[in-house]
Amino acid sequence: SNGVDRELRAPICCILGHVDAGKTKLLDCIRQSNVQGGEAGGITQQIGATYLPVENIRERTSLKAEATIKVPGLLVIDTPGHQSFSNMRLRGSSLCDIAVVVVDITRGLEKQTIESIDLLKHRNVRFIVALNKVDRLYGWKTCPHAPIAKALKNQSEDVQSEFKWRVTEVVTQLKESGFNAALYYENKKMKEVVNIVPTSAVSAEGIPDLLLLLVRWVPEIMMERLTYVNNMECTVLEVNEDKDFGTTIDVVLINGALHKGDRIVVCTKQGPVTTNIRYLLTPYPMKELKAKGVYKHHEELKAAQGVKIAVRGLRHAIAGTALIVVKPGDDLERAEAAAVQE
Ligand code: GTP
Ligand code: NA
Ligand code: MG
Repeated sequence: SNGVDRELRAPICCILGHVDAGKTKLLDCIRQSNVQGGEAGGITQQIGATYLPVENIRERTSLKAEATIKVPGLLVIDTPGHQSFSNMRLRGSSLCDIAVVVVDITRGLEKQTIESIDLLKHRNVRFIVALNKVDRLYGWKTCPHAPIAKALKNQSEDVQSEFKWRVTEVVTQLKESGFNAALYYENKKMKEVVNIVPTSAVSAEGIPDLLLLLVRWVPEIMMERLTYVNNMECTVLEVNEDKDFGTTIDVVLINGALHKGDRIVVCTKQGPVTTNIRYLLTPYPMKELKAKGVYKHHEELKAAQGVKIAVRGLRHAIAGTALIVVKPGDDLERAEAAAVQE
């Protein structure tokens, strides 16, 4: 099959990297939001999820209108880079299809960059390196929203030569972590060699390049994996108390569908709990799931999505565990056993 008539789901993309590499800021640049500015101490402390519909991604790239994109959008998972949150990096890397490892070009690979790369290696997750903060190169002339090749052409010889040696250094460091890597526009073996995309989260150079790799190249290399299937797969990210909805759980719907009213089993500190989905909610497109905001109500949602579910009895749900749907006639005891096992 050439895959043309398949229904693909949105790829799930996890953003990983050392603290302050610019993970949240890159997302803010794409969403035109300011989540990073609202974080205590500028530090991310919770895993996040944002759905980027394909129309919005098109707007942010210089892609011709007739160029096809086979996926309906992109679900981006933001993770903290601070060393104490390795559990959330593990969770993010466990449920994603592709990762973006953000590296500060002025600092190269740092401790949690290497930790993240090791996580991905261990789980066989493909990744792209966003070599961020190119605007910090001394003398950089900003070219807002320009594709990176165009922005680089615009720079002085000094900037270009600093850029070159810093890229070479990162390539060497990646090699030490066990990966061959190359600037994506010079990469002749994209199947084996890790793509590097230089970016700025402040002036947005390279952002079109990064988005295009994610929505055009990623579906090409994992068509099978991104084919929508009805087997429901869903992971709990966070548990919250909401003044309007009571207990809510934030989940990532990886595959299949969820419905308002579905009977579900979730693991809690007191064992598996069976309950019903009272409300099935999402933030508006391009909005962060964990941010307090206005939610859209749904009767049905199809993967991939970041979802907020209002439920009774799940105050002590355990983050990182699976949510299981029980259909009429299903063996509840078996579903509960499965929930505990995951
Ligand atoms: P944690 O989530 O805490 O691990 O950090 P992070 O990787 O999300 O980095 P964050 O987005 O918080 O950015 C850290 C700092 O770097 C902030 O002050 C940003 O404004 C700044 N920053 C991020 N990206 C860029 C960039 O491309 N250029 C410049 N000049 N500054 C940047
Ligand atoms: Na930060
Ligand atoms: Mg952050």
